[in-house]
Amino acid sequence: MPHKATEYQAFSHQILAWYQENPRELPWRGTQDPYKIWLSEIILQQTRVAQGLPYYYAFVETYPSVKDLALAPEEEVLRLWQGLGYYSRARNLHACAKSIWFEMDGEFPKTYDELLKLKGVGSYTAAAIASFAYGEVKAVVDGNVFRVLARYFGIVTDIASSKAKKEFETLANQIIPKDQPGEFNQAMMDFGARLCTPKSPGCEICPLKTSCFALLYNMVSELPMKINKVKIKERHFHYYVIKCGEKWVWKKRNSGDIWEGLFDFPQEESSADTQTPTLQIPSSAKEQIQQFPKKYRHILSHQRLNVVFSEVEIDEENLDQLENWCENEGFMLVAEDKIEYLAKPKLIVNFLNDQGI
Ligand code: ADE
Repeated sequence: MPHKATEYQAFSHQILAWYQENPRELPWRGTQDPYKIWLSEIILQQTRVAQGLPYYYAFVETYPSVKDLALAPEEEVLRLWQGLGYYSRARNLHACAKSIWFEMDGEFPKTYDELLKLKGVGSYTAAAIASFAYGEVKAVVDGNVFRVLARYFGIVTDIASSKAKKEFETLANQIIPKDQPGEFNQAMMDFGARLCTPKSPGCEICPLKTSCFALLYNMVSELPMKINKVKIKERHFHYYVIKCGEKWVWKKRNSGDIWEGLFDFPQEESSADTQTPTLQIPSSAKEQIQQFPKKYRHILSHQRLNVVFSEVEIDEENLDQLENWCENEGFMLVAEDKIEYLAKPKLIVNFLNDQGI
């Protein structure tokens, strides 16, 4: 259904008026520094504001400038990111900082098109940085914006379809006011996150309630339309917590799977929980394998992990044999009091917490 420019103006006017009355005080909103805005936007990809806030403070304090981040060791960056998930964001963040510092004379890219070339920066993040830091007229479009626009304008396109992104981006870029692009983008983010929420939206107190399509036609819970469901994969992990005195066997995860570059334990994967383990542990330890009774279930975006842990005690007199085995298998021995410095997946942190570590 075509809409008129005046309708767009009325919409953006009301969204901005609502935002003026309901602004969230967020630390990255008081700055024009593209580095800090970029940091906040990468942290907030797939992460709620409340969860991302402490990470934002920690990153800004540890790395106040793009130079500080560029010169930091990757493992330190990953350790600071620990618990936030989607670790490719941290690796991209670090790779970008290095390329800005070493290849671009430390100058942050200044336009939407240039920002898009950075690793880990997609159209949403590029639009956010370009509009907040430089006042470029580019609309952000994410799940919140899909929802607000789909409901208000009555757009029934399946938001999981390939054409949806383009359609919503085109519309959002027609609506965004040229004189306040950053303000409008922040307003849309907050309006979607706080009022026009997926469940129990605040329709009774909404300033757009007299002209919202979804409310008028009783379709608030139907919009936005989502038909294609992402397929979720079930996986079964068996971890071996191998200890020799104060030393534990750890493994740095390879590329090509979840948690690249983080540390966990030697592990087997099987098609079901019940399969018997087959890891070739040094023979001296075979008798002392003990499975922990607690089973863990860990939810990732497209995977569900079903995880058990077994403890394996190795006599200290077999340390040499264990060291050889670790070297052959690509594992490493880490003293118990150094474990806290390893960057670990949340699942492993949870397991260690349960062990009082
Ligand atoms: N989510 C993503 N970017 C955001 C921002 N700048 N403010 C609030 N929530 C966000």
